[in-house]
Parts: sequence; C-alpha cells; structure tokens
Amino acid sequence: MNKDFLLFHKPFISEEEINEIVDTVRSGWLSMGPKTIRFEEEFTKYIGSNRSIAVNSWTAAGHLTLEAFGIERGDEVIVPTMTFPATAEIVCYLGAKPVMVDVSEDTLNISLEAIEKAITPKTKAIIPVHYGGQPCDMDEILDIAQKYNLRVMEDAAHALPATYKGKKVGSISEVTCFSFYATKTLSTGEGGMICTNNEDIADRCSIMRLHGINRNAWKRYSEEGSWYYEVVAPGYKYNFTDLQASLGLPQLKKVDFMWECRRKIARLYTEAFKDNGLIELHTIKPDRESSWHLYPIRLNLQKLKINRAQFIEELKNLNVGAGVHFMPVHQHMYYKNEFNLEDKNYPVASSIFPRLVSLPIYPGMSKEHVNKVINIVSDTLNKYKR
Ligand SMILES: Cc1ncc(COP(=O)(O)O)c(C=O)c1O
Repeated sequence: MNKDFLLFHKPFISEEEINEIVDTVRSGWLSMGPKTIRFEEEFTKYIGSNRSIAVNSWTAAGHLTLEAFGIERGDEVIVPTMTFPATAEIVCYLGAKPVMVDVSEDTLNISLEAIEKAITPKTKAIIPVHYGGQPCDMDEILDIAQKYNLRVMEDAAHALPATYKGKKVGSISEVTCFSFYATKTLSTGEGGMICTNNEDIADRCSIMRLHGINRNAWKRYSEEGSWYYEVVAPGYKYNFTDLQASLGLPQLKKVDFMWECRRKIARLYTEAFKDNGLIELHTIKPDRESSWHLYPIRLNLQKLKINRAQFIEELKNLNVGAGVHFMPVHQHMYYKNEFNLEDKNYPVASSIFPRLVSLPIYPGMSKEHVNKVINIVSDTLNKYKR
C-alpha cells in the first residue's frame, strides 16, 4: 500500500475500542447481549428518542420499519432517486413499489413538489434521505404526510449527528434509521439503529429482528434466561452483536468530538472553494446543521477540459481518494427496467450526477491532509480549465 495515499475514508478507532472488543471476547458473550442493550440505552439518551433498537445494518432497520408500518404488495413508498439503492430495495423486499422522485437542486434532498406530485391512493409512506448529513425539510414533509395520511421513516444513514431547528435527527419524526457501516460517522463495521417514539413499532421491530421470537429470546442461554420461547411471526436474523457494541459504545462517547473534527474540515474546504468558479458547493440551510458525513462538490464541466472520471483519476494519481454519491437509483439497470424510469423525469439528479464528487472528510485527517486535498483539487481544476 502506498503510504502517501490519502484514503477517502478511514474509521476513527483507538485503544478504547480495541480494549472493549478484547473484554467482550474474554467475557464469552459474543452475540446480542448486555453491551448491545447498553448501546441502545446510551444511543437513546444521546439522540433523545424514546426507544432505540440495534440491528445489523441500516438495510435491516429500514426493512423492519416498513414491515412494522404494514407495507405490503400493492403499496407505494416514495423514495428520492439520489440515494444508495438500499433505500429503494427495502420497499421491494415487501413486494411494494418504490416510487422514485427527484431532488432539490440546492441540497440534493428530496423535493417537496416531487413528493406531492407522486402521491397516489396507493402511497403509504415517504423515506426522506438526509443527503450527506444535511437534514431534509422535515416540517414540510411531516405536513404533507399528515395531509395525505402517510407514514415517514427518515433515512439518517448519513445524519449522525445532525440537527434540524435545534432538534437532533432521530428525535423528530416517528421513525429514523441510522447506519453504522464502515464508512459512516459512527462505525461498528456493519450495523444500524431504529429510533422511534412509537412503542408498538419498537416492540414489533425488537421481535422481528430475531426470528419473531419473544422479546428477551437473546437471553435464552444466559443464567437469567429461559430455554422456552415462542415464535409469534416469521421474523428475520437481523440482530446486533456485543462485538459490534464494543465498537459502538466508545464511538458514541466521541461522536461529538468526531463531528467537530468534520465541521472544521468542512469550514476549511468551504473557505477554500467558495469563490472557485470551476466548482459549485451545496447550500447548507441556516436552520439545520449537517453531520458532514460527505463533502460533495459539483464540477463546472463546461469550464473544464476533463470529465468527472478523469478528474477523480487525476486526484488518485496525486494520492487523494475521492468518491461519488450517488448514481441515482432510477439509472440502475434493475430499477430503470422494472419501473420504466427515464432521466427526463429526474432533471435535477440526472444533470447533477455526472458532476458530483465527494472529497475525503473524517476525523483522522490532519490539517496537512486537508491542505493537500485543497491544493490538489485547486491545481487540478486550474490545470484543466478551458
Ligand atoms: C443513504 C443511505 N441509505 C442506506 C444505506 C444502507 O446502509 P447499510 O449499509 O448500513 O445497510 C446507505 C449506505 O451506504 C446509505 O448511504
């Protein structure tokens, strides 16, 4: 491995996580157990939600939530096209139809007008995605949901922590799902969390995450547990583990510190790039704070002699990793063919996608790393200026 290469992302793991993992391995309890429960309790306190249910991915969290909402074959669920395909695929798991809609030009968050246009008598729910960590227009989305009697599940895979009008994402609407995937702002390798203020949803998700067996089934091999259990529904194998909680507990303690590190990097990037006519930055609305999971820029392709792929290749050759978030879901082969989706119905996502690049932003980056990215991006833009 080239030691000078600046990775696009690196998890922020220290001795605390390593010691906690060793402690778990020595304890003999590796799967869901006391540390998972503690992680859920501390997450609940941190977010200010009523209940938190830990599972093995955001995808599992989203699937369980839609199942608990009662989404079924024949139903429609509204999803922004500018997201990772998991947001749409969980709708398909239940035989329902994901209805992809366009996003707003300034933030790449779901467009309010597009939501209203997509609503039909079959629509049952909306999944707003907080793109890059910036919260969507939640008041307006919740008003639309109330007007048409729809459920809302926030896709906060990017938005830990983020605030909307002073409230933490996860404490705003009925259900919010987080991801603890390797590149996310709190990482347990793989993992996810359902935060809800609805006890029935919390109970259903708790049961369905572990085969549909009664609530404390995970305890069945412990001293206080019982060998007897009953299955109340055909559930899933979606539980979290104490090994994952061993990463999650120390990560949660420093989640605000890691946020501050990303905010500092974001400020430096914004200061350096705000007047650069060869790229455009996203708008951050004044009444909310992004988690800064991503720092996306948009290339001004008319003013450049290279395309996005060439730009990323140039950065790579100069030892800077970059990413693209995301190829819109409506352009992926399955969704395009299955639901007959065309770019012309997604003018914003389709026109911005070829220009999108995500720059590295994570707590392990030093000031020198940030300056290196700023210099290399600026020099590459100048080098290929038309
Ligand atoms: C917006 C969004 N939603 C959902 C997911 C899926 O998360 P997970 O990998 O934890 O299932 C991701 C993962 O990258 C994502 O970016």
